[in-house]
Amino acid sequence: MPFAPTDHRLDRLIYVLVKNATVVVPGPKIASEVGVSRATVWTWIERLREAGVRIRGHARRGYQLAALPDVLAPSLIRPHVPPQQQIGRKIIHYFCVGSTNDVALELSPRDAPHGTLILAEEQTAGRGRMGRTWHSERFSGIYSSIILRPPLSPAAAPILTLMAGLAVREAVWASTGLSADIRWPNDVLLNGRKVSGILTEMRAEMDRLHTVVLGIGINVNHVRMPAELKGIASSLALEGGQRYSRLQVLLALLRELEQHYRLLIEGGSSVIVERWMARSSYAQGKHLRVRTATSEYMATSAGLDLSGALRVRRDDGQEELLVAGEVVEIK
Ligand code: BTN
Repeated sequence: MPFAPTDHRLDRLIYVLVKNATVVVPGPKIASEVGVSRATVWTWIERLREAGVRIRGHARRGYQLAALPDVLAPSLIRPHVPPQQQIGRKIIHYFCVGSTNDVALELSPRDAPHGTLILAEEQTAGRGRMGRTWHSERFSGIYSSIILRPPLSPAAAPILTLMAGLAVREAVWASTGLSADIRWPNDVLLNGRKVSGILTEMRAEMDRLHTVVLGIGINVNHVRMPAELKGIASSLALEGGQRYSRLQVLLALLRELEQHYRLLIEGGSSVIVERWMARSSYAQGKHLRVRTATSEYMATSAGLDLSGALRVRRDDGQEELLVAGEVVEIK
């Protein structure tokens, strides 16, 4: 069966349950507030239960949440998006989808204006950089794609990616108090382990970026990582020693993206580059193994240029400007 976005009435049902969390809400009341039949309310309550939302049913009296759900339902996000904020003004939510980036890349500008957010509680084909997969466990992380329609040339794409990494870092700090590092170009690390990654994809002409999709994955409440990722990846919960509200982390992410995007458009790339350098231990003097599409070598980082490229001095003395690729620290 193809994946379908969450019906806005199901989204409304979640909202009604959350807003009335302290009382038992009668089925007919839910049905009339949501605009569906009582039978549909029953079916949807079952579906939410299957998805992990704990709802008590009281014979003939109605339904009540047993615990506040950490569901990224648009109706729970929307009241916190200020009217002037563009990022997150339109939200398309899936309980399960292949990849939010794939959805985002298919949408036309009419259906998905600048700032549209695609969210999933689970991805079955989450994609990472360099053809890797992105582990997208149900209800544990934030799996999001943000559509930007920037008035910029394709040459500005790398700086958008740096901007996004910086925004994630600041959002994690604002919502959890955890102080993360940023590894060029845009991995967010806690205690040396990756907790967030960004996959930037775009549609462009020679001189104009049509659409940039910032695919942002944040491992929030994963209690364990798959064996193959142990040691290199982690979650906010594993590093912070507690669960966090995915909703609060997401709201902070939307705010920070909005702010940093405005900074970039109004002030140019230098302000993003400066902030990025101040926040990343990878900017200067870090001994690295560098991997590009065509080569692999050891080098030491020596700052970013204004396009967001990383300057490195190879161990053999040669200087390089990295525009794409990846780096790992050599201890
Ligand atoms: C990386 O390799 O570091 C990038 C990971 C990006 C993962 C996110 S999760 C939401 C969006 N949809 C995807 O399929 N990938 C990105």
